[in-house]
Amino acid sequence: MGSKILCFIAILTVLTNVESKRSFGEKCHPNDLKGLTSFKKGIRYDTSGRVKKWIGYSCCKWAGITCNNFTGRVTEINLPGFITSDDGSPLQTSISGFLSHSITLLSALEIIDLSGLTGLTGKIPPSIGFHHLPRLRKLSLWGNNLTGPLPESIGKLSKLEEMYLFENSFSGSIPENLGNLKGLKKLDLHSNSFSGAIPKSIANLKNLEILSLQNNFLTREIPANIGDLQALKELDLSNNSLSGKIPSSINTLKAVSIIYLNNNQLIGEIPQLLKPGQMSALSFLRLDDNKLTGKIPDTFGQLTSLQRFSLANNELEGSIPSSVGNLTSLTEMYLNGNKISSQIPSSISRLSNLLMLRVSNNMIEGPLPHEMALLTNLQTLDLSFNGLDLSTIPNWLVKLPSLSKVYLAGCKIQGQITEDSLATPSPLQELDLSANQLTGKLPEWIGSLTGLYSLNLSKNGLYGKIPSSITNLVSLGMLDLHSNKFSGSLQQVFQIQSRYTSGSLTFLDLSDNNFTSGIEQIGAGIQQEIQYINLSHNLVKGKLPDSIGRLESMKSLDLSFNNLNSSLPPSFANASALEILKLQKNQFSGKIPEGFLELRKLKELDLSDNFLRGKIPFGKPLINFPKESFSGNKGLCGIPLDPCTT
Ligand SMILES: *[C@@H]1O[C@H](CO)[C@@H](O)[C@H](O)[C@H]1NC(C)=O
Ligand SMILES: *[C@@H]1O[C@H](CO)[C@@H](O)[C@H](O)[C@H]1NC(C)=O
Ligand SMILES: *[C@@H]1O[C@H](CO)[C@@H](O)[C@H](O)[C@H]1NC(C)=O
Ligand SMILES: *[C@@H]1O[C@H](CO)[C@@H](O)[C@H](O)[C@H]1NC(C)=O
Ligand SMILES: *[C@@H]1O[C@H](CO)[C@@H](O)[C@H](O)[C@H]1NC(C)=O
Ligand SMILES: *[C@@H]1O[C@H](CO)[C@@H](O)[C@H](O)[C@H]1NC(C)=O
Ligand SMILES: *[C@@H]1O[C@H](CO)[C@@H](O)[C@H](O)[C@H]1NC(C)=O
Ligand SMILES: *[C@@H]1O[C@H](CO)[C@@H](O)[C@H](O)[C@H]1NC(C)=O
Ligand SMILES: *[C@@H]1O[C@H](CO)[C@@H](O)[C@H](O)[C@H]1NC(C)=O
Repeated sequence: MGSKILCFIAILTVLTNVESKRSFGEKCHPNDLKGLTSFKKGIRYDTSGRVKKWIGYSCCKWAGITCNNFTGRVTEINLPGFITSDDGSPLQTSISGFLSHSITLLSALEIIDLSGLTGLTGKIPPSIGFHHLPRLRKLSLWGNNLTGPLPESIGKLSKLEEMYLFENSFSGSIPENLGNLKGLKKLDLHSNSFSGAIPKSIANLKNLEILSLQNNFLTREIPANIGDLQALKELDLSNNSLSGKIPSSINTLKAVSIIYLNNNQLIGEIPQLLKPGQMSALSFLRLDDNKLTGKIPDTFGQLTSLQRFSLANNELEGSIPSSVGNLTSLTEMYLNGNKISSQIPSSISRLSNLLMLRVSNNMIEGPLPHEMALLTNLQTLDLSFNGLDLSTIPNWLVKLPSLSKVYLAGCKIQGQITEDSLATPSPLQELDLSANQLTGKLPEWIGSLTGLYSLNLSKNGLYGKIPSSITNLVSLGMLDLHSNKFSGSLQQVFQIQSRYTSGSLTFLDLSDNNFTSGIEQIGAGIQQEIQYINLSHNLVKGKLPDSIGRLESMKSLDLSFNNLNSSLPPSFANASALEILKLQKNQFSGKIPEGFLELRKLKELDLSDNFLRGKIPFGKPLINFPKESFSGNKGLCGIPLDPCTT
């Protein structure tokens, strides 16, 4: 008995050696050799050089090819990112020939990986499903330029476990037959142009762990039986045009940790959990940017694995359920842009891991629970535009040790900006106190907030001069002081010194104030990166300097409704990024410089109601604008106005 076994093992060992010698030493299976050789012929470029070296008969030794040690047959083609040109341009090697002809010979294939910016083009031919690939487990063609619909026959690849076709240009509907692929674990079709409904048959995929269909044009309802996908861990259907209600069966997905249904047109209520422990693995939930109505269910607090959720930009109403206090793993909560009312529940203070709380644009009422002082990890707090009647910035708020981004716009905050009202322990990076009732001057110490990246104090009653310390705000990227009563010179603002030589200030809105001077400094110290300047509706006098031409990144300049009385500097020609230029209602004089013809990107132009004269330079882009862009200048002539008489 024992010797028989030994003998059997000995024979087996000899056989195995013979087999592996055959597959790794000499010729590979003639069909595989033919199939790969014809595949190679179809490739126009391979800058990685791998396929070039496919020479001879030992195809199992070729780069990217794997064979089965026992049968000697080719089981894997692994050539991710293989056809790339030097300049990254598409090289357009068609996949159709490979998938319809070469493949018929490579019948032992288990893995095809031709993914990753390879410039493969063409369609997946229907023949892919015709018993040529009985063993295929993984099909990865993502990141190419494949087009056309997926053939129904793809449902015949009965051993398929992973299908990655994302980031292509596939179109048409997702074939119903996909539901036949009972072994499928990962299906990723995101970022294509698929349309139509999600096939109901998808619910047959009992082994499916990942379903990614985001960034397509899918319509209709989410299949009601989606809850049958009991193995599902990640569900991403975001950024489609799905409609109807969220199916209540979704709550029975017991393994799911990611659900993204955001950016669709879903209606109805958020389904209630029916039993405790449902969706106990759910960590990331996005339902934002839909049309969901009703209340946030009380059962929401049972989703105790939640780390991040967003219900933003829906039509939700009612109060924030106090059960959210049970979500102790939560780091980010977005409820902004709904119709949520009542007070913030004090249970929120139990969310000790919370970093980000956004509840702006709702109907939340005051007072804020003082227990919020316990949110010691909070970095971003956005309470803007609610029914909060704060009167002052709550003093517990400015003591939160991690707070660096504070949004309290439209909170009826009154009085002056005092040092204690802003001295948060961590360096402030973003501050929005716009649309309040602040009065008084901008204090000199504002210049000590050197970490400040964005400051919005617009729509208040602030007045007086801009303190010279503002030039110390070396990190400032966005400054919005519009609609206040600031006066005096703009000079300090134009001298804000950037920490970085390339500059960081990109947005500057000082419109609708009472500034009178300082325009000579525009472009002097100001960062080269600036894209938006609005000084309209002030009382600024004087000469627009040549340095305006240094603002090479500027897309929008609005100096309308001021008292500027110089000529238009020819250096405007160098501000060639300009898309919007509004200079109306000033006293600009002289001719329109020929250099305006260099402003090729200009889409909006208003020079009306000035003292400009002479012939309008002829050519694009100036001929694209209507009369109104030039009207009210007694001396201007030429297209689109009346012809010049001389
Ligand atoms: C096949 O043989 C190679 C080389 O001897 C070895 O590295 C590999 O692990 C073997 N694979 C299997 C599945 O036995
Ligand atoms: C895909 O094709 C489009 C236009 O047909 C082209 O702009 C794009 O660069 C191509 N992408 C790749 C990865 O080849
Ligand atoms: C949404 O999907 C469309 C279509 O694929 C895509 O063009 C767009 O960039 C996507 N938007 C986002 C925010 O991902
Ligand atoms: C969840 O929160 C509610 C309301 O705050 C509370 O009554 C309930 O006991 C909590 N449940 C658990 C499991 O902690
Ligand atoms: C500043 O706040 C006002 C009013 O809240 C808002 O309209 C404006 O868009 C904000 N500015 C920027 C640059 O976000
Ligand atoms: C500049 O500000 C004014 C007043 O605040 C506003 O009406 C105008 O639209 C703004 N201009 C641009 C180009 O955004
Ligand atoms: C701003 O200028 C207007 C028009 O000249 C003037 O009526 C108003 O009193 C000024 N306001 C302040 C606060 O200086
Ligand atoms: C602009 O106005 C000032 C006084 O307000 C005057 O001194 C100057 O000469 C004027 N400039 C031009 C070009 O009209
Ligand atoms: C544009 O900038 C260049 C380089 O700084 C300069 O030489 C030229 O004079 C400027 N053009 C005008 C019309 O100011």
